[in-house]
Amino acid sequence: MKTVLINASPKKKMSVSAHFLALQRIFIQGEVIKETLRNKTDYDRLLQILPEADAVVFCLPLYVDGVPSHVLHFMKKLEQYCHEHPLRLNVYVISNGGFIEGNQNQALMQVFENFYVRSHLNWCGGIGIGGGVMLNVMRILFFVYAGMFVLNLINGALLQDALLVLAKQWGIVLFFHAGVLFYQIRMGIAVNRGTFFGVKYTRAMMPSFLFILVADLFFLLISVFQGGLFRGWLRKK
Ligand SMILES: Cc1cc2nc3c(=O)[nH]c(=O)nc-3n(C[C@H](O)[C@H](O)[C@H](O)COP(=O)(O)O)c2cc1C
Repeated sequence: MKTVLINASPKKKMSVSAHFLALQRIFIQGEVIKETLRNKTDYDRLLQILPEADAVVFCLPLYVDGVPSHVLHFMKKLEQYCHEHPLRLNVYVISNGGFIEGNQNQALMQVFENFYVRSHLNWCGGIGIGGGVMLNVMRILFFVYAGMFVLNLINGALLQDALLVLAKQWGIVLFFHAGVLFYQIRMGIAVNRGTFFGVKYTRAMMPSFLFILVADLFFLLISVFQGGLFRGWLRKK
């Protein structure tokens, strides 16, 4: 059993797709090849790898309620390729958007479903995730908490107390991921068995009103420190 995991985010580092793909990897057995699809230089390489695989998992961001253009172009190429060389390939998708509602990914899933019907590939379903950016921030917190645990021990805290704090903090991170992990375990089983998974939607486990508050604050800070709000004010007009 050979599975290709494709990170189709155009980002080089810290993409949300990389995070979900790393989690999905835990639940997939057999030979696994990790690949990226960031621009057209990746197309030919992927077209050489996919014919030898049994399954492929595309992990990609949601752009304007749809498929990012560099992925759409690859799908066109793959469709053409499949007309000339029919493939027996099970196709799974994990898509994520910044908004909290997982079902924002519905149109993207339909595009994939239609595409694989046209390409005569074996559409096996996918997971549409809402609040992807927030879950990616949680991944960073996971390691921050581990660092704080070590610092606590260095500062002389009792191992038992430090472990209790760490367990609570990690528990919160895992709780936010509960929906994603639940479906990723099930998708892993489907990939390993080569069966249909269906299309499921989930999200960061947080009420929407709280998400909006946290997300507004987060993006305000990002825009101040990275987005150039101050730079924009100070730039020569
Ligand atoms: C051009 C663009 C369009 C986007 N459109 C949507 C959208 O329609 N709905 C949504 O929920 N998120 C949207 N987002 C947010 C991304 O889907 C989100 O940040 C995602 O987690 C990025 O994943 P990545 O880090 O794997 O690339 C958009 C982002 C960009 C850059």
